Amino acid sequence: MSITITAFEPQKHLDAAATLLAARHERDRQRDPRLPAAFVMAEACRPIIEHSLEQPGWYGVIAHEGAEPVGFMVMTPQLFAPTHFLASFFPPHSAASNYQQHAAKGGMEYDVYREMYANLADHFVPLGYFDHLVAASPSDAGLAEAFASLSFARHAVAAMRGVGPTEKTQAKVEMHQASAEDAEVVFKLAEELTLHHAKSPIYWPYLRETDESSHEMQKGLLTDPQANAHWVAYEDGKPIGMNTFMPPAFLSPLLVPPKTVYLFQGIVTSDARTGGVGTAILSRGAEWAREQGYEYMTLHFAAPNLQGARFWQSSGFVPVEFGLRRRVDDRIAWANK
Ligand SMILES: CC(C)(COP(=O)(O)OP(=O)(O)OC[C@H]1O[C@@H](n2cnc3c(N)ncnc32)[C@H](O)[C@@H]1OP(=O)(O)O)[C@@H](O)C(=O)NCCC(=O)NCCS
Repeated sequence: MSITITAFEPQKHLDAAATLLAARHERDRQRDPRLPAAFVMAEACRPIIEHSLEQPGWYGVIAHEGAEPVGFMVMTPQLFAPTHFLASFFPPHSAASNYQQHAAKGGMEYDVYREMYANLADHFVPLGYFDHLVAASPSDAGLAEAFASLSFARHAVAAMRGVGPTEKTQAKVEMHQASAEDAEVVFKLAEELTLHHAKSPIYWPYLRETDESSHEMQKGLLTDPQANAHWVAYEDGKPIGMNTFMPPAFLSPLLVPPKTVYLFQGIVTSDARTGGVGTAILSRGAEWAREQGYEYMTLHFAAPNLQGARFWQSSGFVPVEFGLRRRVDDRIAWANK
């Protein structure tokens, strides 16, 4: 098999990319029918790829076998300010291929992705982008093998469940939906969540410079209790846990069925864990989601988060996306010259 790789030119290659992405989505949907049906059509995929190409600094490739397009992949620089509330969760100055920014012909994933990534890395590494992120379907074995062979490992997981009741034992706790006056309670619980992520084996740094942006974000959510909800559990008047719900802004449209809400933060204070509090909060959140007419809930967790990964998956969340990450040894910038 001879694969040729050339730079992605929107006017020339968008239609082929949209067709490849729609075909990939159809295969993904056969394995997970919860995924939205609309994107098995190339016309629906086209504007989403186009949107990626509006991001400054993007670079992409298209793969051909003979005259046939067999893959495309686009990466975009991720340049969160170090004060941004998401800065703790992403490596700074990274290059990412999001869920909708790549596809390979079915059965050719291993060879096509390896060739495409080699070309993309050759573009981004000389520009100083040593952290590379790729979002992948958890059930795409060919893609997983290709990126494992390219030194990528699992960094984050997005998962989804319906809004039905949880079946696990729950504690009897008082539950309130936070309003703007409860901002300090929400800040404190969000801080405990970020501190949890800074511990072993996750080790996502807690950048205190992000506090202001994080508070602004939480305050923004609190101003619209219809679209967003912070469910807070209390024991003897003390806040002991919280689930925050908001629209699914952090996920690819290909992963979001209609009527989906996003569970942004889930935390129980360390002294109150493993007694059914987390389940009680999730249960109240699911009830609220049903009342609002939602059918699905999505969330992210850090792949190395032992408690979070176990709890969400035992509560019915099933992975829909693996965020893969590779860090290139940055000594390559000066060695071998
Ligand atoms: C994840 C988290 C919110 C769960 O909250 P929690 O209050 O511990 O949740 P629960 O007590 O309802 O359930 C936790 C476990 O305790 C078990 N449990 C509940 N009541 C129990 C009891 N009375 N006796 C023994 N075990 C019990 C549950 O079965 C569950 O087991 P599982 O996770 O293996 O399914 C909490 O661990 C946490 O805040 N962790 C740190 C932050 C974090 O990781 N958040 C998620 C970020 S994505």
